[in-house]
Amino acid sequence: MFELEAADPILDTDGAEATDRPTGTDLDAREVGRRYLSPVMARYFERSWSHGNGHRLYDSDGRAYLDFATGIATTILGHRHPAVSAAIHSQADRMLHLMGGMGYAEPVSRLAQVLAAALPDPLDSVFFGNSGAEAIEGALKLARRATGRPAIFAFEGAFHGRTFGALSVTTSNPNYQAGHGPLLPDVHLVPYPQAYRDHGDDEAAATSASLAAIERLLAGTVAPDRVAAVLIEPELGEGGYVPAPRDFLRQLRALCDRHGILLIADEVQTGYGRTGRLWAFEHAGIVPDVVCLAKGIANGLPLGAFVARRELHERWGLGAHGSTFGGNPVSCAAGIAVLETIQREGLVANAAARGEQLLSGLRQVAERNPRIGDVRGRGLMLGVEFVKDRATREPDGAAGDAVIARCADEGLLLLTCGAAHNVVRWIAPLNVTADEIEEGLTVFDRVVAAL
Ligand SMILES: Cc1ncc(COP(=O)(O)O)c(C=O)c1O
Repeated sequence: MFELEAADPILDTDGAEATDRPTGTDLDAREVGRRYLSPVMARYFERSWSHGNGHRLYDSDGRAYLDFATGIATTILGHRHPAVSAAIHSQADRMLHLMGGMGYAEPVSRLAQVLAAALPDPLDSVFFGNSGAEAIEGALKLARRATGRPAIFAFEGAFHGRTFGALSVTTSNPNYQAGHGPLLPDVHLVPYPQAYRDHGDDEAAATSASLAAIERLLAGTVAPDRVAAVLIEPELGEGGYVPAPRDFLRQLRALCDRHGILLIADEVQTGYGRTGRLWAFEHAGIVPDVVCLAKGIANGLPLGAFVARRELHERWGLGAHGSTFGGNPVSCAAGIAVLETIQREGLVANAAARGEQLLSGLRQVAERNPRIGDVRGRGLMLGVEFVKDRATREPDGAAGDAVIARCADEGLLLLTCGAAHNVVRWIAPLNVTADEIEEGLTVFDRVVAAL
């Protein structure tokens, strides 16, 4: 059996002081990780990371990188935000774990309360899990049992997670479902309204085409009274950073209302101010029946949630769902600090303003570079799509991969998305400054010019 030596620095935690420096261990995380971690995990980078501070992530050589990847929209306040760290330390000293079935714990109940207050009526009842996929699982189960209907409509190109239920509605990359079937039955895919890719930039045409596809399905194959829910990302995430047109979401809401179908918004990536509104569905002025949250909810600690009106949860039935770790008190304490910080520091407005700055800077870069076909998104959830040719719009995945690799070499962390990796996505922290946006744009401009 492998034994850690007593003096091994991995075990040598000395509290808050330890966070501002590399781990100090000689362990080569890349070498050991390559040997002992499952090779199934695709990695954007083959670097080893030592620690984070503010908006910088440090590699094991001590080199700083401007972190506009934020663990895919998770460290939304940056690394080591003092309010979040203080909440974590304080709760960790009190109680690490309480299985929900044991009763109630203050940070868990309190986070549910502040979340309900942050969401529009009638979204007032919260179930906590550990991740985005679990939030989707719970929402789908709730929808089926509360409506007594089996069918789920989801969108082509969406990403909702890797567990079987969530995977069954995930088609952002064919590799994710391949060989894992049989998946959940009665899932029906409809086209996401993609103006740039499918409709020559015409949002109205994209909206009508998607709605017509849904209506066709309801008229022909799946009777409306069999459909439990329509599940949608208000801005397509892993599938390529494509915001749903406002009018599409409004009409989708109306269609669901007409047929008693639940509308589930997957706000796992778009939520928490990411798109310049606290919740992305606000851009369309609609209220979903169920909202799924994770990622930024606890600034990096594992936590997920889905929120629906109490009456829906009551239809679900006592004991029909549960979790050992869901709603961990330390994660929830961090979650309260996250929401309070967003509010106190006006970070939704900051995301909107910095997003405008970034969008206009990226559009200027695009004007000079024909390999950029499209710049789009809302708030601080912006995508830059690379194409081989602006006329054919053929995706250029090699360009996307090269851009993020070279940006990393120059100290800027960006990620790609889209099945072809051809969309470079910008997911800066919500409290990013104007100077940091300029810094990122300068590196990106230089890298793209040298492609
Ligand atoms: C929109 C969306 N939903 C769900 C998930 C799954 O979340 P998790 O990886 O926490 O299971 C993700 C993760 O990227 C996501 O972007």
